Amino acid sequence: MTHSRSPVLHSFWLDETGVDGAYVPLPARPQHLEQALRALPILGFRGCNLTIPHKQAALSLVDRVEPLARRIGAVNTIVIRPDGTLEGRNTDAFGFRESLRDAVPAWKATAGPAAILGAGGAARAVVAALADVGVTEIRIVNRTLARAEAIACDLATPKTSITVYSWEEVGVALRFAGLLVNTTSLGMVGEPALTLDLTPLPPSAPVVDIVYAPLETGLLAAARGRGHPVVNGVGMLLHQGRPGFEAWFGTPVRVTHELRAAILATLAPVQ
Ligand code: ATR
Repeated sequence: MTHSRSPVLHSFWLDETGVDGAYVPLPARPQHLEQALRALPILGFRGCNLTIPHKQAALSLVDRVEPLARRIGAVNTIVIRPDGTLEGRNTDAFGFRESLRDAVPAWKATAGPAAILGAGGAARAVVAALADVGVTEIRIVNRTLARAEAIACDLATPKTSITVYSWEEVGVALRFAGLLVNTTSLGMVGEPALTLDLTPLPPSAPVVDIVYAPLETGLLAAARGRGHPVVNGVGMLLHQGRPGFEAWFGTPVRVTHELRAAILATLAPVQ
């Protein structure tokens, strides 16, 4: 939580909109999460965000879970309703969708299969977002096949097929794909590099890395070199905050150049 950018993000919007409020980091141990959440309405909070390791546990602690959060299997945003009850939502899928739309407006769900690297919590949100915008074939590449199979089981629909690939088969997953998204931690500062032969990926396919430290990962640098549209993880980080702010304070907010600059300034030391 100490590395969370959410306080900077929401404080920026509070200043910009003139809303009289504060966004504060609140550490909570897993065994105290329920008590901590139940205290929020009493203390006058409108809601909160949850970060690792609380996102899954919150599903069974809140009074109502929005269907999308249930499908994804994680709650990252809680809205406190006027009667003091807690509603769990997931805004990561929205954040991914809006970030892609912002960065590559020309991309369409009909561009071809989407290849997703990774099968953790972030992958589940990305897969849900892509299924919801109408991608009909999603290919998940993951080290642990059982996790990818669980996503296929939970998130495939009559309109969206989900198939699972091992890393040895990644070249097959990239063939004719219309989008590539890295949701693994590979390529992040302090993690092993993500080395991938992009040759099978059609050059028109956008390459998205949800990692934002460093801003330009090895994957994005390689993709840029081959002429792919590239999208870094900052957009998703910013856009996922919007639905929470709007629900808590009833005021719409935007992702502006000024906001990006403010967040990038906080990321600079880790680039
Ligand atoms: P998050 O919730 O942020 O998605 P996560 O659930 O820990 O985080 O998922 C991390 C992803 O990175 C997983 O897909 C993980 O693969 P496994 O499911 O096999 O664990 C992937 N990952 C992390 N380190 C990896 C490595 N060294 N090699 C391959 N995949 C890796």
